[in-house]
Amino acid sequence: MNAQVSMNDFILQVEHLSMKFGGLIAIGDLSFQAKRGEITALIGPNGAGKTTVFNCITGFYKPSEGMITLSRRDGSNYLLERLPNHEIPARAKVARTFQNIRLFSGMTLLENLLVAQHNKLMKASGYTFLGLFGFSSYRQASAESIDLAKHWLEKANLVDRADDPAGDLPYGAQRRLEIARAMCTGPELLCLDEPAAGLNPKESASLNELLMDIKDNTGTSILLIEHDMSVVMQISDHVVVLEYGRKISDGSPQSVRTDPRVIAAYLGVDDEEVEEVLTEVGDEDVIEQLDTGPDAAHGPGSSASMMAGPVSDTVEHADEGERVMVSRGASKAAQVDAKAKTPRKSSERATGKPAAKSSTAKPRGGRK
Ligand SMILES: Nc1ncnc2c1ncn2[C@@H]1O[C@H](COP(=O)(O)OP(=O)(O)O)[C@@H](O)[C@H]1O
Ligand SMILES: [Mg+2]
Repeated sequence: MNAQVSMNDFILQVEHLSMKFGGLIAIGDLSFQAKRGEITALIGPNGAGKTTVFNCITGFYKPSEGMITLSRRDGSNYLLERLPNHEIPARAKVARTFQNIRLFSGMTLLENLLVAQHNKLMKASGYTFLGLFGFSSYRQASAESIDLAKHWLEKANLVDRADDPAGDLPYGAQRRLEIARAMCTGPELLCLDEPAAGLNPKESASLNELLMDIKDNTGTSILLIEHDMSVVMQISDHVVVLEYGRKISDGSPQSVRTDPRVIAAYLGVDDEEVEEVLTEVGDEDVIEQLDTGPDAAHGPGSSASMMAGPVSDTVEHADEGERVMVSRGASKAAQVDAKAKTPRKSSERATGKPAAKSSTAKPRGGRK
């Protein structure tokens, strides 16, 4: 198994992952890796399949195909697609937060963080009523749980609100509490589904600080789904971009930011406008790539076929003969690949228009 070769470098390896819902291919042959100790961002327009990837990693969905390997620090490997759901946090040490906040809103902050440690406490009690009162192991575990809860309340800058109901917190603070709660389970991989969504700039900065603190001081690796490109660019070590369930780019934040496929997928313009928009972006690197064709990492000789979505109007699965219709020319990334193969004259480039803000552009709406 590959995991044995690189288990020290990679905490997570996703190989040829596919997830189908009836005729819809939500994820198609997706492979990527997340390095231990790094923040890996998974980005892409609405409906690209990001949450579905998380649901496969965390056992909410069983993938149609593919392998997801989690390699723990102690060298043990877990095939997440085969592990029963409840064992994914407990044995593989994967924790997650949800796109929609899920807290016990009537419980205090402290209670929310103690409930997260329920498994550890029950184990220490020997799963008996007597154990709750008699065993010193329980008393010790209980004291440790409170200490850990306090520690994460401090880290999340929430200690002043410890005894307030979670539901009374401002939105940004609830997001940090969710992360604190996940950290109380001692994860090796923390999966965060759009933690910055709906945050104001101050709350967003506070979130960044918390995530950088986790990265620098706990050794927990982070897999981050994010729409806010400023968060992605500031804190990620590595970015994987999805469009229509397929990987269209994979690399450093800088290389992804200037990848024409990513810009096209994110700007969500009409088909005819793709070329114009790419020029408007005005990024030297992008224009260079358009004139010279894809770079080596994205070139046709490499894994470009996997990175870019299908250029045709149908997605076909040969093994089952299944055909799923997608809207005509849906993949902007695929159009960029097609255009990159046909170099344009510099005189054709539009000028005089303000550069589009690719780094902060809102993703387009989903396909429906
Ligand atoms: N449980 C489900 N049943 C049917 N379709 C689903 C289900 N979950 C997700 N999808 C579909 O899969 C695609 C990807 O969704 P999702 O992973 O939520 O995208 P993202 O998180 O990137 O916005 C969408 O077309 C969505 O409608
Ligand atoms: Mg989502």
